Amino acid sequence: MLKQRENWASKLGFILAAAGSAVGLGNIWRFPYVVGTNGGAVFVLIYLVVVFLIGYPMMVTESAIGKHTRSNPVGAFRALAPNSPWWLAGALGVFTGFVILSYYSVVAGWSLSYIFKTLFGTVGPGVDTADAFVGHITSVWPPIIWHAVFMLLTVGIIAAGIVKGIQRWVQILWPVMAVLIVLLIIRAVTLPGAGAGIAFFLAPDFSQVTGVTFLNAVSQAFFTLSLGMGVFITYGSYLKEDDNISGSAGSVVGMDTLIALLAGFVVFPAVFAMGLDPSAGAGLTFITLPAVFAEMPAGVLFGTLFFILLAVAALTSAISLLEVVAAWLIDEKGWTRGKAAAVLGVVIFVVGIPSSLGFSVWSGFSMPGVGTDLLDTYDWFANSIFLPLGGLLTAVFAGYVWGAKKVQDEANFGSGNLKVGNWLAVMIRIVIPVAILVVMIWGIVETFAG
Ligand code: PHE
Repeated sequence: MLKQRENWASKLGFILAAAGSAVGLGNIWRFPYVVGTNGGAVFVLIYLVVVFLIGYPMMVTESAIGKHTRSNPVGAFRALAPNSPWWLAGALGVFTGFVILSYYSVVAGWSLSYIFKTLFGTVGPGVDTADAFVGHITSVWPPIIWHAVFMLLTVGIIAAGIVKGIQRWVQILWPVMAVLIVLLIIRAVTLPGAGAGIAFFLAPDFSQVTGVTFLNAVSQAFFTLSLGMGVFITYGSYLKEDDNISGSAGSVVGMDTLIALLAGFVVFPAVFAMGLDPSAGAGLTFITLPAVFAEMPAGVLFGTLFFILLAVAALTSAISLLEVVAAWLIDEKGWTRGKAAAVLGVVIFVVGIPSSLGFSVWSGFSMPGVGTDLLDTYDWFANSIFLPLGGLLTAVFAGYVWGAKKVQDEANFGSGNLKVGNWLAVMIRIVIPVAILVVMIWGIVETFAG
């Protein structure tokens, strides 16, 4: 009864799809605003340490589990530890993907609407970009309609399957994004007063560090690298026998980190040059960038193009979120790909609606410490609890149940430019579980005490 499982069409297929999953709103929307609300450069520093100490080894581990079992997250844990409750770790991942996509699609919808707002000058020269942003998110229908449009696009691609759907899309617009960001950096850093922004982004102020800073750095690392919920188990499951993991994961981590840092070099110089508030929160990118475009020659063109690319980057991340959940229904429940994509699309759309209405009719709901609105609250549970917990369980499972040596062998198989050494065992057995546990407890206690 073995079904033929789809494979990536080329060696680059996995890297591009994985980088497509990793690079998204996490880099361009979430990274700058979390840096801004966590004291700037010192957060960047902690985040980079977390990316290299936890992010890379976790990406290798998840991919190895996927490649070895050729299965979705639930099936993967079950295959390696039959008749045990470990499959629940996979189920947590599927659930988390579901939650993240519900509000991710709302923010991606903002990007879609900004394509047209920029093109038609609703945001642009002479417009207060902060007012424009608040005006958009506090309206009831437009953000929900854009959220629906974005879910529809995501469902369409997933229904088409991994090679035709995912791979084709990811390959197209990648380099264009990088070039555009570099142009934006040039504009931003040459604005008068930009220096203060560069200092904020690069000169750490250690008095700003708390337990919450560490928890937010871990959350951001998991989120931006798409870790802790089975994306890399699922994408790894489409790897061919002789594909190499250690090198591919290195490329993905490198690209993701680069794009986030570049986004910071656009946003912070501009924030300070324009007298905006770096700790403005979720609107930071949407308020700052249109103000930069307004200062650029051909700003409408660059601005429109930028938001198209942002929406595409979000789409290649969203399809990975949906793919995890869909792969589970397809593998475990025998659903067809089309049915899984369509049913999930509707349900996730509905679950996401409150996070949009949290800025308008449901703006009264908030959890002290956790968030100021419902979208924040979804985001906090997903990224500060579920992803790190998923990562912790995966590391412990791979380190002790499946075996660190097996992870290492699987990761180094094939010809890669980077090999993982015996240190991997130390990381996944001890350093990562302990670090996540300490940071979670410390950060959560502080969140609710403060
Ligand atoms: N990494 C994606 C981004 O940065 C978001 C994501 C998180 C995707 C978790 C998949 C899984 O936008």
